[in-house]
Amino acid sequence: MCGIVGYIGPREATPVLLKGLHRLEYRGYDSAGVALVAPTGELNVYKCKGKVSDLERFLDGKDTAGTIGIAHTRWATHGVPNDVNAHPHCSESNRIALIHNGIIENFRLLKDALVENGYTFRSSTDSEVLVNLIEYIRTSNDCSLLEAVQQALKQVVGAYAIAIIEKDNPDRIIAARQSSPMVVGIGKGEYFLSSDAASIVEYTKEFVYVNDGEIAVIERDKPLKVVTLDNHKSRIDIKKLELSISQLEKGGYPHFMLKEIYEQPDTIVDCIRGRINEETLEVKLSGVIDNREKFLKARRIIFVACGTSWHAALIGEHLIESICRIPVEVEYASEFRYRNPIIYPDDIVIAVSQSGETADTLAAVELARKAGAFVFGISNVVGSSIARATDSGTYIHVGPEIGVASTKAFTGQVTVMAMLALTVARERGTISKEYHDEVARALIQLPDTLREVLKVGPQVESLAKIFTYAHHFIYLGRGENYPTALEGALKLKEISYIHAEGYPAAEMKHGPIALIDDEMPTVVIATPDHTYEKTASNIEEIKARGGRIVAVIAADDELVRRSADYTIEVPVITECLMPIVASLPLQLLAYYIAVYKGRNVDQPRNLAKSVTVE
Ligand code: AGP
Ligand code: GLU
Repeated sequence: MCGIVGYIGPREATPVLLKGLHRLEYRGYDSAGVALVAPTGELNVYKCKGKVSDLERFLDGKDTAGTIGIAHTRWATHGVPNDVNAHPHCSESNRIALIHNGIIENFRLLKDALVENGYTFRSSTDSEVLVNLIEYIRTSNDCSLLEAVQQALKQVVGAYAIAIIEKDNPDRIIAARQSSPMVVGIGKGEYFLSSDAASIVEYTKEFVYVNDGEIAVIERDKPLKVVTLDNHKSRIDIKKLELSISQLEKGGYPHFMLKEIYEQPDTIVDCIRGRINEETLEVKLSGVIDNREKFLKARRIIFVACGTSWHAALIGEHLIESICRIPVEVEYASEFRYRNPIIYPDDIVIAVSQSGETADTLAAVELARKAGAFVFGISNVVGSSIARATDSGTYIHVGPEIGVASTKAFTGQVTVMAMLALTVARERGTISKEYHDEVARALIQLPDTLREVLKVGPQVESLAKIFTYAHHFIYLGRGENYPTALEGALKLKEISYIHAEGYPAAEMKHGPIALIDDEMPTVVIATPDHTYEKTASNIEEIKARGGRIVAVIAADDELVRRSADYTIEVPVITECLMPIVASLPLQLLAYYIAVYKGRNVDQPRNLAKSVTVE
């Protein structure tokens, strides 16, 4: 959650910080603020409720001069989104300003102790407690700011990425990290700080990822220094990141989400590039081949993930169980981490995360590693925490996903899972050559198939108009398309705020069918597969109760077409990959309904792109 930006160097900091905040706004957008040390020596802090554009308006006419600054876009955890709770937070003396991403879990205890020592608080945040704790330690122990930060962080339980500047030192930013992302961009005579390297990629391609328990001391005209809480020097490991600015912009689309939906034929090309030999049809995921023995001997695969990534993992379960014959479990990372799960050393735990920063998934990775399992990551963001914390893994390579509702990452994740299943199945000898080649061929043709699917855009747009006023939706699917139904329902609820539930089609008669009437539309994935006739019967059951049906069907479908009120035709490919095909019209349906309802599609209320708190 929340985005952090920092700058120190020869430029005016404010434009750099605001641009960075705009790029990070997908992470949190209930309030925003900046702190700058002005050439006059003043520590100027400006912050307000609302979006980065509100902050920009608020800054009009203010003194925003300064070549050092920190900035924040918030996703509230402690205290309502308002001007006072917005970051940066200043210490009581107004000499230190801090921005924070994360949660200080023991903030009450620390706050009570500070109140006893005469401190008063302006905001309800946990973050203000930390800045005052730092100041308290600094003044009572008469130590340097770095020492005070080190001592304060030793008392903190929780997750944080913080950045601090001081009125009396216009030449230094101190930044620290524990379980929340933080990267330092190295420019020529300047430094950038961010929660996400992509947000500062137009200034530099060289980055140092700050690790948990480390503090970066970023000083003007001096080499970057990274130390631990115990003041041991860490090695500086500069990584290069190749990313183009156009990948971070809307490219003519009204929303990032629509751009990302329409990008999917191309992102699948990037996802499979170099991984499938078009002549021999050999599929090779190097992360799997390099750990061949582990996959050959795996007793079980346990997926850990949240949200859309969890839905992708449910499809992965179908793929792996059916073609690799390895038992698979799919766990919500947040449940797994607190449940004392049984993990065997010959289990493979696969963490699936677009951002690679989701706090619960990261914690599940750590738990699995401690239990001795081999941990594999499937993520999108290169150099992300999960990518670094896992033993091996693979990137989905779909480019930056900025819309809060995940679309292209989902199809990329499923594509990678299919390639993983094919690689493992071939090594284990659990798949016939014919079937292997059928799936590999379908993967190679997938970009063209998706191009074809996306032609339904205008039709789905008109359909969406009809359903804009629905208050509830049910999504149904069977087999590998049950997770597609869950994902379709999640898309709709998160961006249109319409209540939607996904169910396995056959479960309807065990309760949910009681909800059916002419005001409860049901979206059914009814493409031809081994349960097609059963799904068709489930549709009849809903029709018999006055329900309205939107069915995703094959072009040559005759049976379901007769009962459905509305149909969306998609091309049919090998059954195990149909969730990728069927999910596109559902993404479009959610998108257009949300647009008709006037929702903020890219930044839906209450959500953040990357959930780095529990
Ligand atoms: C997706 O549309 C959601 N906004 C959300 O469920 C997301 O998939 C979840 O928070 C997991 O994120 P991750 O893939 O970055 O770990
Ligand atoms: N816990 C802090 C707050 O509520 C930071 C939240 C964030 O990561 O944006 O202000």
